[in-house]
Formats: sequence, structure tokens, C-alpha cells
Amino acid sequence: MPKVEPLPSKMEILCAETPGEPCGMVVFGASGDLTRRKLLGSLFSLYRRGLLSDKFYLIGCGRKELSDEDYRKVAAESIKSSQADDGQVDSFLSKIHFVSGNYDDIGFYEKIRDRLNELDDKFESCGCHMFYLSVPPSLYGQIASLLSEVELNKPGRCNCPGQPRLVIEKPFGRDLASAVELDEQIRRHFREEQIYRIDHYLGKETVQNILMFRFANAIFEPLWNRNYIDHVQITIAESLGVEHRGGYYDRSGALRDMFQNHMLGMLSLVAMEAPTSFQADDVRNEKVKLLRAIRQIPVDQMDKYIVRGQYGPGDVDGQPVCGYTKEEGIDPDSSTETYLAAKLFVDNWRWKDVPFYLRTGKRLAERVTEIAITFRSVPHSMFASVGLDQMPRNILVLKIQPNEGIQLGFQAKRPGSKACMSTLQLSFFYNEVFGTSPPESYERLLLDCMVGDQTLFTRQDDIEVAWKLLTPVLEQWQSSGQKPFEYPSGAESFLHADMLIEEDGRKWRNIS
Ligand code: BG6
Repeated sequence: MPKVEPLPSKMEILCAETPGEPCGMVVFGASGDLTRRKLLGSLFSLYRRGLLSDKFYLIGCGRKELSDEDYRKVAAESIKSSQADDGQVDSFLSKIHFVSGNYDDIGFYEKIRDRLNELDDKFESCGCHMFYLSVPPSLYGQIASLLSEVELNKPGRCNCPGQPRLVIEKPFGRDLASAVELDEQIRRHFREEQIYRIDHYLGKETVQNILMFRFANAIFEPLWNRNYIDHVQITIAESLGVEHRGGYYDRSGALRDMFQNHMLGMLSLVAMEAPTSFQADDVRNEKVKLLRAIRQIPVDQMDKYIVRGQYGPGDVDGQPVCGYTKEEGIDPDSSTETYLAAKLFVDNWRWKDVPFYLRTGKRLAERVTEIAITFRSVPHSMFASVGLDQMPRNILVLKIQPNEGIQLGFQAKRPGSKACMSTLQLSFFYNEVFGTSPPESYERLLLDCMVGDQTLFTRQDDIEVAWKLLTPVLEQWQSSGQKPFEYPSGAESFLHADMLIEEDGRKWRNIS
């Protein structure tokens, strides 16, 4: 097992988290799924780690008629699996409140404003506010506009820079035009530096580690280019189906749900140039620059570059499951893709002609997210004379989840005959080394938002560049009327997805 060296004192300071600033956080959609499953638990965890300011409080907002006490019960239910003593739970819950109303009613926003004023005094939070919109994006424009009508888009008493903050979740539009329109609606009332667009993948510890791994080690960067890298594979495989989100998913599909955001986000981190600093805009400028360099997918030869699938019936973990079109909330004639594989090229000096193969799908054999970098073969095998003419290639795998870690395959001699060789792995597993699993990504993102650090949040130009690349694909699918290929639930892959990579003489990595 790798040894973790003790930290030098300067690093100890850097490793200490900065607690959040005083903040009144308002969550719209407070009794919804995301709030209950992720936000409340993450806030409680921050609280337990001493990372919520004493001057933090939360107002849940929604259409349901709930009192503070009712909502505290909802919150208690959401955090009940955390191992905490009753005292901690009670004191966290005492920070939680609820305001009910309709999103299109100005009276609702006036009630929120009055409650904020009252609680700002009680918690001495200085009028610093964060509005988290955990509601469908169709409501973003309206909520932003009504917040501004009651002047809640203005800085509070302390006049903190970049306040109040507005946090929104994907999808940011369905295509380029709708993404631009959505942004215009929000930007009438909030400036870019107030807007925190969440891509929860960027909050994952192992996704952030891509930057550390690449730019805090001198040994990899000289090899990180077309001279040494044969190709890159990025995979997000899920074994779950659409679950209870059929209504949303059937209007989105894998391209909008995973590819435009999480997949391209990981691609940009793995392929971008070194930012000059770890400041938000230095990092985000490089991400956008990389996305701009991705070669447009030729729509007249799309099948060579992009393949769609939809899961049919099959078995997952030994259990029979239905096909996508039989799931709740799905049109029985749906053409929505639940799988997408693509081959992309980045047209710049570093990456010219290196293929990036990306794939994501639901109801596959396993849940695996990883980035695998395959290096070129050795230029000449001196072992050819003893029968080793084809050397396996070195593959570096950044394991994002589960079993978070890094693995590098290399060839070594095994005991036995002089030519006995095998591929061994140098590996680091987060769990083994740090004795813990990485924290929930929302903890990182909520905390960053509370300290005003936008590095891990997506900027609007990033979103527009991604849509520019993908909107022609969506249009082509729509005009061709072609349906996605069916694959059995629980599959590793399927014929057409395999052909995309095998025609280039390469293979997808196994996911199970
Ligand atoms: C979400 C998608 O953004 O990411 C879901 O909307 C998907 O469809 C989820 O299941 C996957 O996230 P994770 O963190 O479980 O890999």
C-alpha cells in the first residue's frame, strides 16, 4: 500500500478547509428529491465538520404548506443515516425554516424577503444570501425576475462582493438557442460573478484530482501529448435505469443529461493546457479554450463519430429488468437515447489526430466512471527475437468512481524463463490510503459557493461552446428520424458502439 507522507506545516495550512462565510441560504424546491437526497445531508456534513458559519441559516421554499417544524421533520429524515448525536442534529435543525408559496406570486417573494430580514438579525448574518434553485429550469427566469422585483438580487448590508449568489443546476438549455435565452433571462437580474452553475461531476474529489495529478507532477506532463499518447477513453457507465425520473429523462437523453456537461467537463480537464494559476477564471479560460478546439462532428458522416443506443429488457445484477420504453413516464415509442458513444478530436498542437473515445450509458453491466489514457507502443521491441514482438501498451487509468484511485499498467519480468513478462499495476486507491471514501460532491460545491470560489462552476461561455458542438448532432438526429440501436440491459456494450472504436483497430476497455 502506498505510504502517505506526513504533511509539511505549510501544506497543513493548505489542507485546512476554509469555513463558509455567514450566509442565509434559500432553497427553492426544498421538498424535492435533490434537496432531500443531497443538499440537506451535505449541509449537515459541513456543519459537523465545523465548516458552516455559526451565522448560517436555511430557508426551504416550496409550494407545500409546511411550518418550520414540519420541514425540520423532513430535514431530520434526510440526515437520519448520518452518525451524529441528538444534540448536533437538534442544533443543525434549529437553523432550518420554511416559507411556502407559488413561484409566480410576488407575495411569496415578499414573504421570503421579510423572513430573510428577520433571520439576518437573529443569526447576525449580515444580509449575505445564497439562492439555490432546485426547481425545473423553466422556472429559473421567473424566479430570478421576481427576486429582483423585491430587490433580493442586491447585495445585503455587508455589501459582500459577488453577493447575493444564485445557484442553478443543469440542464442549462436544450440546445444552443435555448441556453442563450435562459442565460439572458437570468442575466437581466444577476451578473455572471453571482451565478454558480453546478456540474456535480466537478465537485467529485477524483475529478478535481485530475488537475493535481497533471499539474503538480513533473513526470507526466512531458508525455501528455500526441507524441506519446495513442488515445483516451472516457467512460461513465451506470447500472441504474431512469428510475423515477422518466418525465425529465425522456425529454433529455444521454447527450443532454450526461454528455454536454459531465463528459465534456472531464474531457476538458484531462486535455486542457496548464492554467497559469488555480484562480477560477484562469482554470475556466483553459477549459473553454479546449472545448473550442474540439473538431466539429461532420453531420454527413455522423455514424462514424457518434452512436446512440437505448436499453431493452435484460438482466442487471442477476435481476430481470424492463426495457426503457416500458419504464414509468416514458413514451412507449420513445427515440430517446440512454447510451451515447462518440469519437472526438481536439485540433491543437498537443492533441492533433489523437482520438478521444467517450461513452456513457444507463443500465450497463456495472457502475464505472473512469478516464483511461493509452500510451503508444514501444517503437521497437528488442524482445522480438524471443517471441515478444507486440508489447502491451501502458495504460494510465484515473478511476473516478467507485474504487476511486489511479492505476498505471507497466510490463515487467515475471519469475520464470528469460522472456516471461506480464503487465503489472502500480495503483493507489483512495480508500486504502486515506481510510475513507471521498466526500459527497455537493459538500465541496456548497462550501465553495459560500466562500465565493467559482473554479468548479461552469461559466456561460463553456456551456455555449459545448452546445455549439452538439446542437448540429441533435438537429441531424431529429431530421433523420432514425431511432437509437437497442442494447440489452446489463450489457457491457453492443455491436454499433464497438464498431465505432474497432474500426480504428482499438477496443473499449471492459467495464466489469
Ligand atoms: C446526473 C444525471 O447529472 O448524473 C443522472 O442527471 C445520472 O441521469 C447522474 O444518473 C450520475 O451521477 P453520479 O454522481 O451518480 O455518477
